[in-house]
Amino acid sequence: MLVLLKQNYEALSREAAHIISNAVRSNPAIKLGLATGSTTIGVYRELVRLHREEGLDFSRVVTFNLDEYLGISPEHPHSFHHFMLEHFFAHVNIDPGNIHIPDGTIASDYEQYCAAYEADIEGAGGIDLQILGIGRNGHIGFNEPSSSFASKTHLKVLTKATVDDNRKFFAACETIPRCAITMGIGSILASKRVLILATGGAKAAAVANAIEGPVTAYVPASALQFHANATAIVDEEAGSRLKLKDYYRDVMEMTELFTPGRSS
Ligand code: F6R
Repeated sequence: MLVLLKQNYEALSREAAHIISNAVRSNPAIKLGLATGSTTIGVYRELVRLHREEGLDFSRVVTFNLDEYLGISPEHPHSFHHFMLEHFFAHVNIDPGNIHIPDGTIASDYEQYCAAYEADIEGAGGIDLQILGIGRNGHIGFNEPSSSFASKTHLKVLTKATVDDNRKFFAACETIPRCAITMGIGSILASKRVLILATGGAKAAAVANAIEGPVTAYVPASALQFHANATAIVDEEAGSRLKLKDYYRDVMEMTELFTPGRSS
């Protein structure tokens, strides 16, 4: 996996947005796989800035979000629908008809729904660039430890660790979702390019296990070691437990020599 070590969250966000914006410029009808979560907020902020200041055009871009909580309406302030609108979609010229986010309100026929979501991805020609965050337990999307590496979009029961991490977003009196619809690890591996982002010391163990640890269902993100075009962008704290940091810095330095102006 290509590992880009960035000094802090701002530099990480700029680098990710730089890669995404270049991809959009070279393929204006690109199919983007999108994640939510606090890690991605800075990337969306930067993409919105590039749209406003440099005219980055999203009018033909097609998006597929990774996941949504089950039992939550799109209007719920902590739905991923709401997150995407608030942090990204409301501020760029994306065609609402090109946006796909799993529907957290379905109450039956889950398998058919998930198969249809997967068929929509395939029908669009597959995802060109998939953005991911990583959970403290190594999850990607809501593929919790023990998820099949071949899984496609499916209904997933969340682990206690994930439910506890999400507790901060919900009012004390609210029921915290225990399940989600998520693209599978197989869906993620099928995308042409993957960017996984991590910030902060709480992610350091998950990052090291995913990038340098054994490939295991216990760390879902370790499946990305099988992806031919996966890039991890991590800040100093999230990368603090990586063993090969010096080597990653050498690679970054050499890459800069071959393609000057890349570092941010
Ligand atoms: C969200 C998602 C999750 C998050 C992960 C990290 O769509 O798929 O896998 O990327 O839980 O979340 P943050 O960035 O909030 O730490």
